[in-house]
Amino acid sequence: MGQTLAFDIYGTLIDTQRIAATLEGWIGELAPVLARAWREKQLEYTFRRGLMGAYADFDACTEQALRYCCQMQGVTLSAGQEAELLERYRQLPAFTDAAPALDGLRADGHRLFAFSNGTAETVGGLLRHAGLEDRFEDIVSVDEIGCFKPDPRVYQHFLQRAGSKPQQTSLISGNPFDVIGAQAVGMRTVWLDRTGRGLFDPWGDKPTATIRGLKELAGILG
Ligand code: 2OP
Repeated sequence: MGQTLAFDIYGTLIDTQRIAATLEGWIGELAPVLARAWREKQLEYTFRRGLMGAYADFDACTEQALRYCCQMQGVTLSAGQEAELLERYRQLPAFTDAAPALDGLRADGHRLFAFSNGTAETVGGLLRHAGLEDRFEDIVSVDEIGCFKPDPRVYQHFLQRAGSKPQQTSLISGNPFDVIGAQAVGMRTVWLDRTGRGLFDPWGDKPTATIRGLKELAGILG
């Protein structure tokens, strides 16, 4: 029987580290370091804003994190470069295994949703640019309720929007904090461990399944 599948976007279907290619021409070897720091700070801002109850959307977290990380790394970007970088962040490419895996899962009768910290508008643009937009029944954004993953309310919101029970719903995510958050409300979870390092928070909970690439999904979901 088909399941409801909630696909995380950034770091799962969309490759955030590819922003380093834009940075490389400007800052050379520092590009992957800044790209990684930027992603970590962006998530830190979502966690902190969640704790403080001081929601600002994911685009704001992304922009503010970029400014912080540039200052931290001693990098000065012109206003034009910053605008270009943020625009490129809205046009990041998909991992190459995303489109074929999504097509196969749809053909197998699963219901596919994009489920993200990003706003529906930004995620919609991202998916369009990456050529993935037609695969999903809907985009569910945390922005609809003004809090971020892994707040339990965002997973409950997803279940309500999709009209799906937790045990018939799988979150597929490359982000361990997202996996643990979904498990906490009783959802099934698939952790996408692209590096194969098995680096998962030792909190006791284990994902329902772990995969190295999206093409393995069809086999484990049936
Ligand atoms: C997403 O919600 C957590 O960045 C991740 O797309």
